[in-house]
Amino acid sequence: MAPRLQVEQRAVIPGRIVALALLVLLVVATACGGPAPHETTLARGVVSAPESQAAEVGAAILRQGGNAVDAAVAVQFALCVTNGFGAGLGGGGFMLVHDPAAEGNSVSTLDYREKAPAAATRDMFLDEDGQVIKDMGLYTPLASGVPGTVRGMAAAWDRYGSLPWSRLLEPAVKLARDGFVLDPWTADSVKKYSDKFAALPAHLLRHVEFDDYYRGKEGAVLRLPDLADTLERIAREGADEFYRGQTAELLVQEMERDGGLITAADLNAYQAVWREPVEISYRGYRVVSMPPPSSGGIALAEFLNMAETFPPQAMHSAAQIHLFAEIAKRVFADRAEHMGDPDFHHNPMAELTDKHYAQERASEVNRHGRSDPASIRAGEFPRHGASGRETTHFSIVDDHGMAVANTTTLNTAYGSGVVVDGAGFLLNSQMDDFSAKPGVPNDSGVTGSQANEIAPGKRPLSSMTPTMVFEPTGALSLVLGSPGGPSIISTVAQVIVHVVDGHQDLEAAVDLPRFHHQWPPSPEGEDLLLVESQIEYALPQDVLAELSRLGYTIKPRKTLGDVQAVMIQDGVATGVFDRRRTGGVAYP
Ligand code: GLY
Repeated sequence: MAPRLQVEQRAVIPGRIVALALLVLLVVATACGGPAPHETTLARGVVSAPESQAAEVGAAILRQGGNAVDAAVAVQFALCVTNGFGAGLGGGGFMLVHDPAAEGNSVSTLDYREKAPAAATRDMFLDEDGQVIKDMGLYTPLASGVPGTVRGMAAAWDRYGSLPWSRLLEPAVKLARDGFVLDPWTADSVKKYSDKFAALPAHLLRHVEFDDYYRGKEGAVLRLPDLADTLERIAREGADEFYRGQTAELLVQEMERDGGLITAADLNAYQAVWREPVEISYRGYRVVSMPPPSSGGIALAEFLNMAETFPPQAMHSAAQIHLFAEIAKRVFADRAEHMGDPDFHHNPMAELTDKHYAQERASEVNRHGRSDPASIRAGEFPRHGASGRETTHFSIVDDHGMAVANTTTLNTAYGSGVVVDGAGFLLNSQMDDFSAKPGVPNDSGVTGSQANEIAPGKRPLSSMTPTMVFEPTGALSLVLGSPGGPSIISTVAQVIVHVVDGHQDLEAAVDLPRFHHQWPPSPEGEDLLLVESQIEYALPQDVLAELSRLGYTIKPRKTLGDVQAVMIQDGVATGVFDRRRTGGVAYP
């Protein structure tokens, strides 16, 4: 396994001493009056991010007295610079915020997902014969929804921020202006994707510009002056600059140059939305996650509800993997049929997350043989009204126990590959998360129905699953999330199962091998089970042999997911980043 970066190791040893000292102070303080009923005091905060320079930015904001949301805003903008392939001003995402001082130990969920432009149409990615045009929704100016990231950060800061907005953007401006070091993982991915973009047919992407920024820069200090200027304008003028100012003008010019659909009116109208979270209990733990337009929270809830009807299984036994695949087939069949943007489609959220429904659905599970995916149908509910894979997750907890789980994306790596000329950021390829045609898989291999068809102003269905888990006592225990398209749901579920059922510490829970099933049979009728092939995460040969014997087609993936998580135990918050890639944990 790759060693975790120095930044964490440096912090851990002195941090433990600091933590002990602060715990002693906490005990004394509690004896002298103590915190208010809902308030939590932790020994220190922590930032777990997929890139170490951005993690350090978050820790610096916590050191300056900022709270977890201040740190999250600063980390998000820093990642827009250092992690430009998966996070960016041209994308969108979802954020969970836990404020321990709020009524009812509540969690707020923020939707800053991209929206289809007003000129988008249901069949915009179909040819005259009604067939999906390959890559049209991925690598063209038509692939981009109206970006939500800047409005999302402003909405979070408006509600919870305590430090000045411009101060939170300063580190990102500095990284873009003065330069940052491109890590080897990103440098590798730049090479891979520039070759992929270069090989696309000319009728798709006419301007592949992102590799001008990155190519051949591994280990070098990389400067992004256009992006620095854009960030500086947003720092000075606020989120309106992106949606109504010079950046909006540059974005619209980019669209007009190459036939994209986003207009000034689309940008002007974009708003982030606070929504009601998905909440369930799992073996006594409270699990809180993101509602539609992400499918993540409902799918995670349905998965855990079904898993709970069975006794905990031996970890990574063929029996456990088979059981989880059987559960996942039913979850993803429901996802394809029932989930879409709640502003356009009624999601049967109460029904899908109901314990009785999970029991009924779990009774269909075949413990001894496989259910043929082609035989599985979505659960039925009355209809009401109208009906990358390169994503980035970070988790932050501050010393008052305020927590943020944030997942953000351009969709596929480097989004559509279109850089807004003069503004220095990539646009997303999120339109591919819509169902271009019922039953036809998108780039992530998931299918959809009318619930997730394209419509003007609609948000495409996501699988992002920023999640928080609370102890049976009510105390926050785990903050987590991952990239990985639909495999995010399996990744988050498996880490929770490792912690709750397997009693693993966070590091082990994140390190353990992962697998993923997402239901639809392959065109050849295979029952596909994805497993990690990188040696450290590979399942034992006898388990793979047993799964093959059961009839699964085992499909290797180098790795699955990239979890950034925080666990809180005995008043101490510990961060972990996933060794599968490069990440960082930083303490204030
Ligand atoms: N674009 C990947 C997702 O939202 O699930």
